Formats: sequence, C-alpha cells, structure tokens
Amino acid sequence: MTSIRASGSPDAFQLELPPLSSSLLRVVMVGDVVGKPGMQIATAAVQYLRNVVKADAIVVNAENAADGSGLRLKDYRKLIDASVDAITLGDHVFRKREIMSVLDSESNIVRPANLASAAPGKGLAIIKIGANETIAVMSALGRVFMNPIDCPFRALDECLKQATGTKIRLVDFHAEATSDMQLMGRYLDGRVTAVLGTHTHVPTADECVLPGGTGFQCDVGMTGPHESILGRKIDAVREAVINAVPTQFQVATQDVRLSATWFDADRQNGKCKQIGRVQISGDTIEAYNTATHQRV
Ligand SMILES: [Fe+2]
Ligand SMILES: [Fe+2]
Repeated sequence: MTSIRASGSPDAFQLELPPLSSSLLRVVMVGDVVGKPGMQIATAAVQYLRNVVKADAIVVNAENAADGSGLRLKDYRKLIDASVDAITLGDHVFRKREIMSVLDSESNIVRPANLASAAPGKGLAIIKIGANETIAVMSALGRVFMNPIDCPFRALDECLKQATGTKIRLVDFHAEATSDMQLMGRYLDGRVTAVLGTHTHVPTADECVLPGGTGFQCDVGMTGPHESILGRKIDAVREAVINAVPTQFQVATQDVRLSATWFDADRQNGKCKQIGRVQISGDTIEAYNTATHQRV
C-alpha cells in the first residue's frame, strides 16, 4: 500500500505507481465515506486522485456520509459537483429517506442490487467516462453476519445480463465476512474487472488479480476519522458496548484519512491488469491543494 503523508511542492506528491499506458483505464474506488470529516476529505481529494493517482474514473461508497449513516441530497450533490463519477451505498442506503428520489432519478448512483425489486433505485449504473467509454458499476450486500437479504450472487448475475455491452465492470460488494467477500471474488472472476469490498471500514492487505483477470480486495477501508471505532467516537462506543448505556454514536474527528483502491482495466477486454491501495491523510490533501492552488 502507498501511504502518503508528505507535504511541500507539487513534485513531492508523486506516487510510485505502475505506469499507465494508453491501453489501460484507471478506476479509483474510495471506501466508505464517514460523516463531515469523510465528506470533506473525499471532495477535497478529487483533484489529487485525478492528477497524482491518475484516476480516469472515481467511484465513492458514500453510505455513511450523512452524520455516519445514509446519504443526504446535499452530500450527493457535493460529491457529484466535485466530479466524482459514481456513488455506491450499502446497508444504510435508506437511512436518509430523501435519497430515495435521487436513487430513482439519477443515473450515477446505485443501491445494492439484492434489495427487493420494488425498492427505490437500481443496482447497476452505466457511467460514461471521457468521450466514448463506459464503465458498469454494481453493488450488492453480503449475507454472512448481516440482515437477511436476497441472494447477492443471483442478483449480480442479473445485473451482468444487463451490462453485456460494457467491458469494464466494477462490483462494490458490501459485506461483513472475508469468506463471503472471497467467494464473491471467485464467483465473478473473469466476468467483471474488479470486485472490491466495502462495509467493514478496515482495509485488507489482500489486493490481487484473480486467475480469470478480476481485480479483488476484501475491503477498501474507510474514508474518515481513524482515531475512532469505525469512524465513531471511541468513548461513546465503549460506553454503549461495555456498560450497556445507550449513547449516541457521534462521528469522530481526528486522524482523517482517505482509503482507496485503484485498478487498471484493459480497455479492449475489460480485464484487470494491476491493482493497488492508497491511504492519504487529510494534511496531505490540504498541502497538495495549497501547492497546486486548488480551490475546494
Ligand atoms: Fe460503512
Ligand atoms: Fe455498511
């Protein structure tokens, strides 16, 4: 993983990433954005992701954007206005009801595909990248240690039937158990460009390209305050869990970082060629934006 905490001139921000030939398209998936600190760094980091990480496409999991749970209309707008290409969600998808109409009306946001078919939104979005390229973005919820839900494997099979014209395909698998995540990677290997996990808020060190050409990682990790329990204030969680005293789980504020995974897709056949992780501190993003005179 590339962990960046440097500051200084624009040259100081160059990353040691593999070269990106014109035959490849680089997609960056940003892990669960938590609360105000997560939203702040996610929107401020877009130019860094475009210019330093060399992202052609940026997909953001924003299921925890609204005070730690759900996504508000204003959060959606902020991310899209910052030039994020697509947004995924997770088990907190409907926590803010105002997002339901956005899920129905907008083509750059997906909800888990294995919710009831009558639920608002869709599990597949075809996103235009540049002049004449598209990527398919899909999402599904896992079933191990999570609430009962329809089969994610069959739900994604259905999404893929609708995405036959799009070679570059990203699945955000929002799941709790690494076994569930690994099985989804193997199940879709050779049929999608990448299966990347979200939901646990902890990045896993298992990024790889599977034998069939699918990039895989159990969990991308969290974008938000890391001096926390999964983004929430430690004392509040301790009080609730250890002393059984109901408390409000407020979003923490310290050590804000963006966790993301990039993968390079072959533009011709949609196979993943290489994959890697980055974790970037809020200080670094601020220093980069200052050094390059970005206004955020
Ligand atoms: Fe989450
Ligand atoms: Fe989640």
